[in-house]
Amino acid sequence: MKVLVIGAGGREHALCWKIRQSPLVREIVAAPGNDGMRGVARCEAVSAEDIAGLVQLAERERPDLVMVGPEAPLCAGLADRLRERGFLVAGPSAAAARLEGSKAFSKEVMAAARAPTAAFNVFDSAEDAMAFVRRANRPFVVKADGLAAGKGVIVPATAEETIAGIRQVMIDRVVGDAGARVVLEEKLSGPELSFLVFTDGERVVPLAPSRDHKRLRDGGQGPNTGGMGTVCPTPNHSSGHDREWIDLMIRPVLREMKARGAPYQGVLYAGLMLTRQGPMLLEFNCRFGDPETQVLMLQLESDLVPWLAGMARGELPAEPLKWREGVSVCVVLAAENYPGTPVRGAVIEGLREDGSREDVVVFHAGTRRDEQGRFVTHGGRVLNLCAHAETMDEALSRVYRAAAEVRFPGAQFRTDIGRPGDE
Ligand code: AMP
Ligand code: GLY
Repeated sequence: MKVLVIGAGGREHALCWKIRQSPLVREIVAAPGNDGMRGVARCEAVSAEDIAGLVQLAERERPDLVMVGPEAPLCAGLADRLRERGFLVAGPSAAAARLEGSKAFSKEVMAAARAPTAAFNVFDSAEDAMAFVRRANRPFVVKADGLAAGKGVIVPATAEETIAGIRQVMIDRVVGDAGARVVLEEKLSGPELSFLVFTDGERVVPLAPSRDHKRLRDGGQGPNTGGMGTVCPTPNHSSGHDREWIDLMIRPVLREMKARGAPYQGVLYAGLMLTRQGPMLLEFNCRFGDPETQVLMLQLESDLVPWLAGMARGELPAEPLKWREGVSVCVVLAAENYPGTPVRGAVIEGLREDGSREDVVVFHAGTRRDEQGRFVTHGGRVLNLCAHAETMDEALSRVYRAAAEVRFPGAQFRTDIGRPGDE
């Protein structure tokens, strides 16, 4: 098979790395990919946001399977455009991707499906939203309705902070038009985990649960980011949890989507919080997580390609999805000033000529080669250092030994990935 992977980050590098191991695959094309993944894919310079350009690329390359990494092209209808032209696509339709593309829609579907989630209200006017908070006189989580690349959620401590958050999102439009509408949500607390499933519209197959550390600094401090590190599986997990979450949250939502004429077919990512009242849905994403995928691909034993093809065709493989023993961890090295505008062009040391290392698996997220052929920083999350081992301690010590040697000016990383209790 020839596989086309859409996207440019560490998630897509990890997908290409895993797809490369499949005996079914002879060629991988990434669009646009990045310089660090040229060892596993041929990169074609078409942006993941350029829907018309990607359709043209597919017409030219004639892939047997297309895997779409990021949410933006899915929400813009890339999977629909490609399917209309007869391509096999692992990724939901735009109508189904609204589960991520609109937080108000997503919450409405959860509520209609009676899936447990925080109580919420939707507002189209900043004035009404602020009046609601003043009346209640306590904090609410503020969520911009539209896609905001992980920057559209504010978790305030007080009513005043909530009002300031509404102002930022709805009036100052810090995340643009995504903030024209907001969801105000009751604040929940408890450990979070990322629960992903493969679904062909009927069958639902759970992936191993993973944990993403979203705050920039150790101990769950600092601003929210796209994710600073992950572990998979989460400790003390059992298949009973999978069944419970699927019955309680996933199946009802899939049924509701089907009833609305938008059946969901693809990878579905549920962000869960394990509260004292039981598991609750925080959000849905219409795709693989980043950096969850990096650890999932290390931990997955089965060939990924029949599963991607199965989601695309509407018929998942009959055999079980197999996972390795032990654990996988990923530590993100981020650029100076991330999650603000990252500093680009800082020279990275400690990698082999092809961008890899011997001791850990390196996925490139925001790098490029400069004129002299050196890898330099080129995005917020720069590199993902990953390892699989029998125990968490072993995996962590391998990754952190490597993190001490992979250096660039201004590099930021957390030193407490995988420690229990941290956000
Ligand atoms: P989301 O994009 O909806 O997952 O929100 C991003 C982050 O905000 C989550 O990972 C949580 O840490 C936090 N968050 C979202 N919703 C809530 C909530 N209802 N209560 C407390 N924290 C939340
Ligand atoms: N790591 C969080 C996400 O992919 O949305």
